[in-house]
Amino acid sequence: MSEYHILVNREHPLSKDYVPGDLKEACFPFLAEPGDPKRLLRQTACQAAQKLFTRARGQGLCLWGISGYRSYARQEEIFRRRLSQAGAAHAQAYLAPPGCSEHQTGLALDVSSPEISYELEETFAQTSEGRFLTKHAAFYGFILRYPKGKEAITGYAWEPWHIRYVGRPLALYLSFTGLTLEEYLAL
Ligand code: DAL
Ligand code: ZN
Repeated sequence: MSEYHILVNREHPLSKDYVPGDLKEACFPFLAEPGDPKRLLRQTACQAAQKLFTRARGQGLCLWGISGYRSYARQEEIFRRRLSQAGAAHAQAYLAPPGCSEHQTGLALDVSSPEISYELEETFAQTSEGRFLTKHAAFYGFILRYPKGKEAITGYAWEPWHIRYVGRPLALYLSFTGLTLEEYLAL
């Protein structure tokens, strides 16, 4: 199995000390300042995202990176804060507990656009940038990891802003079949 097919969810956590060895800083439009760990992605995912963003820009679109790599400690901080602010139902739908977030793999990236003020919200799917992702992400090796209608399988609500690098062959396969990573790995 490719190292890029790693499954991370509530049932398949990463260890507290797992840090990818090949993190690189994104050079495409990103809301976080240079030097911020949010801009990090594993090298192959970073290069693929760079190409995806270049294609988007070539089509006159404004795709922006919002959040890439997150350490265990950072996810713990986010989880605790949002659990206390937004409550348990919100956390269950949208938040991975520490160790259970794909962002710790350095293969996941949240994206948005100026049209929706860089928010991570469902309306992103209707923007030109959101539609572009649905059409082109797989060609660059990314899947839309938490699709609508698959909440019971992925364990999370629809997140049209969260893309995950799995490599082009699997991304194209999952996009054609409509399978989630969980379903594919259970085959
Ligand atoms: N929002 C995704 C599930 C995460 O917290 O990793
Ligand atoms: Zn995400």
